Amino acid sequence: MNMLRIHTFPDSFLTQTAKAVENIDGKLQDIIDRMAQTMYAAPGVGLASIQVGVDKSILVYDIAPRDENRELHVLINPKIISSEGEVLSEDEGCLSVPDYRADVKRAESILMEGVDRDGNPLRFDAEGLLAIVLQHEIDHLNGTLFIDRISKLKRELYKKRIIKQLKRSDEQ
Ligand code: NI
Repeated sequence: MNMLRIHTFPDSFLTQTAKAVENIDGKLQDIIDRMAQTMYAAPGVGLASIQVGVDKSILVYDIAPRDENRELHVLINPKIISSEGEVLSEDEGCLSVPDYRADVKRAESILMEGVDRDGNPLRFDAEGLLAIVLQHEIDHLNGTLFIDRISKLKRELYKKRIIKQLKRSDEQ
Protein backbone atom coordinates (compact mmCIF):
# COMPACT_ATOMS: atom_id res chain seq x y z
CA MET A 1 0.00 0.00 0.00
CA ASN A 2 1.25 3.46 -0.80
CA MET A 3 1.85 5.70 2.14
CA LEU A 4 1.23 9.37 1.68
CA ARG A 5 3.93 11.92 2.35
CA ILE A 6 3.22 14.09 5.36
CA HIS A 7 3.96 17.73 4.61
CA THR A 8 5.83 19.51 7.37
CA PHE A 9 6.20 23.13 8.42
CA PRO A 10 7.04 25.49 6.66
CA ASP A 11 5.50 23.77 3.60
CA SER A 12 2.99 26.28 2.20
CA PHE A 13 0.41 23.57 1.40
CA LEU A 14 -0.30 23.44 5.15
CA THR A 15 -1.83 26.93 4.95
CA GLN A 16 -4.43 25.85 2.36
CA THR A 17 -8.11 25.53 3.18
CA ALA A 18 -9.80 22.24 2.32
CA LYS A 19 -12.75 22.23 -0.07
CA ALA A 20 -15.99 20.41 0.72
CA VAL A 21 -16.26 16.85 -0.61
CA GLU A 22 -19.20 16.64 -3.00
CA ASN A 23 -18.84 13.11 -4.28
CA ILE A 24 -17.74 10.05 -2.28
CA ASP A 25 -16.32 7.72 -4.92
CA GLY A 26 -13.73 4.96 -5.14
CA LYS A 27 -10.93 7.45 -5.57
CA LEU A 28 -11.90 9.17 -2.34
CA GLN A 29 -12.16 5.82 -0.52
CA ASP A 30 -8.63 5.04 -1.67
CA ILE A 31 -7.34 8.35 -0.30
CA ILE A 32 -9.10 7.63 3.03
CA ASP A 33 -7.47 4.17 3.25
CA ARG A 34 -4.06 5.63 2.52
CA MET A 35 -4.58 8.41 5.05
CA ALA A 36 -5.47 5.82 7.71
CA GLN A 37 -2.38 3.74 6.94
CA THR A 38 -0.17 6.81 7.00
CA MET A 39 -1.63 7.87 10.36
CA TYR A 40 -1.11 4.42 11.95
CA ALA A 41 2.42 4.12 10.57
CA ALA A 42 3.47 7.56 11.85
CA PRO A 43 2.01 6.79 14.47
CA GLY A 44 -0.46 9.57 15.18
CA VAL A 45 -3.90 9.96 16.71
CA GLY A 46 -5.27 11.95 13.80
CA LEU A 47 -4.50 13.09 10.29
CA ALA A 48 -6.10 15.72 8.09
CA SER A 49 -6.11 15.63 4.30
CA ILE A 50 -4.26 18.96 4.03
CA GLN A 51 -1.28 17.35 5.81
CA VAL A 52 -0.88 14.85 2.98
CA GLY A 53 -1.36 17.30 0.14
CA VAL A 54 -5.06 16.63 -0.48
CA ASP A 55 -7.32 19.70 -0.49
CA LYS A 56 -10.58 17.84 0.21
CA SER A 57 -12.21 18.08 3.62
CA ILE A 58 -11.39 14.70 5.19
CA LEU A 59 -9.95 13.64 8.49
CA VAL A 60 -9.17 10.31 10.08
CA TYR A 61 -8.56 9.69 13.75
CA ASP A 62 -8.12 6.99 16.32
CA ILE A 63 -7.31 8.13 19.81
CA ALA A 64 -5.98 4.66 20.73
CA PRO A 65 -3.64 4.01 17.76
CA ARG A 66 -1.25 1.71 19.63
CA ASP A 67 -3.98 -0.05 21.54
CA GLU A 68 -5.45 -3.42 20.64
CA ASN A 69 -8.87 -1.79 20.65
CA ARG A 70 -8.01 0.70 17.97
CA GLU A 71 -10.91 1.92 15.94
CA LEU A 72 -10.63 4.04 12.83
CA HIS A 73 -12.97 7.00 12.49
CA VAL A 74 -13.46 8.92 9.28
CA LEU A 75 -15.07 12.34 9.09
CA ILE A 76 -15.86 14.03 5.80
CA ASN A 77 -16.75 17.74 5.70
CA PRO A 78 -16.46 18.00 9.50
CA LYS A 79 -17.78 21.10 11.22
CA ILE A 80 -17.80 22.32 14.79
CA ILE A 81 -21.36 23.46 15.44
CA SER A 82 -20.78 24.80 18.93
CA SER A 83 -18.14 24.71 21.61
CA GLU A 84 -18.09 25.18 25.35
CA GLY A 85 -15.55 25.84 28.09
CA GLU A 86 -11.80 26.04 27.85
CA VAL A 87 -8.99 23.60 28.63
CA LEU A 88 -5.24 23.70 28.28
CA SER A 89 -4.15 21.00 25.88
CA GLU A 90 -0.78 20.15 27.40
CA ASP A 91 2.20 19.31 25.23
CA GLU A 92 0.22 19.23 22.01
CA GLY A 93 2.17 17.94 19.03
CA CYS A 94 1.65 17.44 15.32
CA LEU A 95 3.07 15.16 12.62
CA SER A 96 3.52 18.29 10.47
CA VAL A 97 5.44 20.14 13.18
CA PRO A 98 8.34 17.79 14.01
CA ASP A 99 10.24 17.88 17.28
CA TYR A 100 8.03 20.43 18.94
CA ARG A 101 5.34 20.45 21.59
CA ALA A 102 3.47 23.28 23.30
CA ASP A 103 0.44 23.97 25.46
CA VAL A 104 -2.57 25.17 23.48
CA LYS A 105 -5.90 26.56 24.67
CA ARG A 106 -8.81 24.51 23.34
CA ALA A 107 -12.54 24.32 23.91
CA GLU A 108 -13.48 21.76 26.54
CA SER A 109 -16.37 20.23 24.64
CA ILE A 110 -17.68 20.55 21.10
CA LEU A 111 -20.68 19.54 19.06
CA MET A 112 -19.55 18.01 15.77
CA GLU A 113 -21.23 17.41 12.46
CA GLY A 114 -20.01 15.71 9.33
CA VAL A 115 -20.58 12.57 7.28
CA ASP A 116 -18.91 9.18 7.51
CA ARG A 117 -17.12 7.46 4.63
CA ASP A 118 -20.43 6.06 3.34
CA GLY A 119 -22.04 9.49 3.33
CA ASN A 120 -24.17 8.95 6.44
CA PRO A 121 -24.67 12.11 8.47
CA LEU A 122 -23.00 12.20 11.87
CA ARG A 123 -23.67 14.49 14.82
CA PHE A 124 -22.06 13.95 18.20
CA ASP A 125 -20.63 15.62 21.29
CA ALA A 126 -16.94 15.27 22.03
CA GLU A 127 -14.94 16.12 25.11
CA GLY A 128 -11.54 15.38 26.63
CA LEU A 129 -8.81 14.10 24.30
CA LEU A 130 -11.26 13.46 21.47
CA ALA A 131 -12.44 17.10 21.51
CA ILE A 132 -8.82 18.29 21.43
CA VAL A 133 -7.85 15.97 18.55
CA LEU A 134 -10.89 17.02 16.51
CA GLN A 135 -10.19 20.73 17.04
CA HIS A 136 -6.56 20.19 16.04
CA GLU A 137 -7.48 18.29 12.86
CA ILE A 138 -10.22 20.73 11.86
CA ASP A 139 -7.67 23.52 12.27
CA HIS A 140 -5.58 21.74 9.60
CA LEU A 141 -8.55 21.77 7.22
CA ASN A 142 -8.62 25.55 7.70
CA GLY A 143 -4.91 25.96 7.07
CA THR A 144 -4.08 26.46 10.74
CA LEU A 145 -1.34 24.73 12.75
CA PHE A 146 -1.20 24.47 16.53
CA ILE A 147 1.83 26.77 16.47
CA ASP A 148 -0.47 29.46 15.08
CA ARG A 149 -2.23 29.28 18.45
CA ILE A 150 0.81 29.84 20.68
CA SER A 151 2.65 33.08 21.43
CA LYS A 152 4.39 34.83 18.54
CA LEU A 153 7.69 34.66 20.40
CA LYS A 154 7.52 30.87 20.80
CA ARG A 155 6.46 30.45 17.19
CA GLU A 156 9.34 32.59 15.92
CA LEU A 157 11.83 30.58 17.98
CA TYR A 158 10.54 27.35 16.49
CA LYS A 159 10.61 28.82 12.99
CA LYS A 160 14.25 29.91 13.43
CA ARG A 161 15.22 26.45 14.65
CA ILE A 162 13.57 24.74 11.66
CA ILE A 163 15.11 27.13 9.13
CA LYS A 164 18.53 26.51 10.66
CA GLN A 165 18.00 22.73 10.43
CA LEU A 166 16.90 22.98 6.80
CA LYS A 167 19.98 25.07 5.93
CA ARG A 168 22.23 22.57 7.65
CA SER A 169 20.77 19.63 5.73
CA ASP A 170 21.15 21.60 2.48
CA GLU A 171 24.84 22.10 3.17
CA GLN A 172 25.50 18.41 3.76
NI1 NI B 1 -1.48 18.08 13.26
